[in-house]
Amino acid sequence: MAIVIGSDHGGFELKEVLSAHLKAKGLEVVDVGCYDTNSVDYPDIAAKACEKVTGGECEWGIVVCGTGIGISMAANKVKGIRCALVSNEYSAEMTKRHNNANMLALGGRVTGPDLAKNIVDAYIKAEFEGGRHQNRIDKISALEG
Ligand code: RB5
Repeated sequence: MAIVIGSDHGGFELKEVLSAHLKAKGLEVVDVGCYDTNSVDYPDIAAKACEKVTGGECEWGIVVCGTGIGISMAANKVKGIRCALVSNEYSAEMTKRHNNANMLALGGRVTGPDLAKNIVDAYIKAEFEGGRHQNRIDKISALEG
């Protein structure tokens, strides 16, 4: 299934790097913008990316803004989205294994391109462990109301 990717202007360059990286791995990518460095509002991009996951068109996604903070905050407001702001490979691995995150957030002004690619690869390689971690995710879902 496809992977959705989106960014605001602050994350545009890193989004392009990660989109090319995923495609080079033979993965299908759905790009919800932005498509240049003109200023856009990250909640609008988060909403578009999250809809692709909650609607079932994409299995998971990546969102990027300048820090990764704003766009992760916005994504986590969407019911069914578990967005992890990650800046290292260990966190990326663990958020798949324990949180079953279905959205990664990165900061285009924080994380360099090679590290970002390694972060995404660590997430892809990891497997959700289920069990007690599913119970905890169910409790997160219960907080959504
Ligand atoms: C945009 O300048 C910047 O605020 C945004 O990309 C992000 O870093 C917000 O959290």
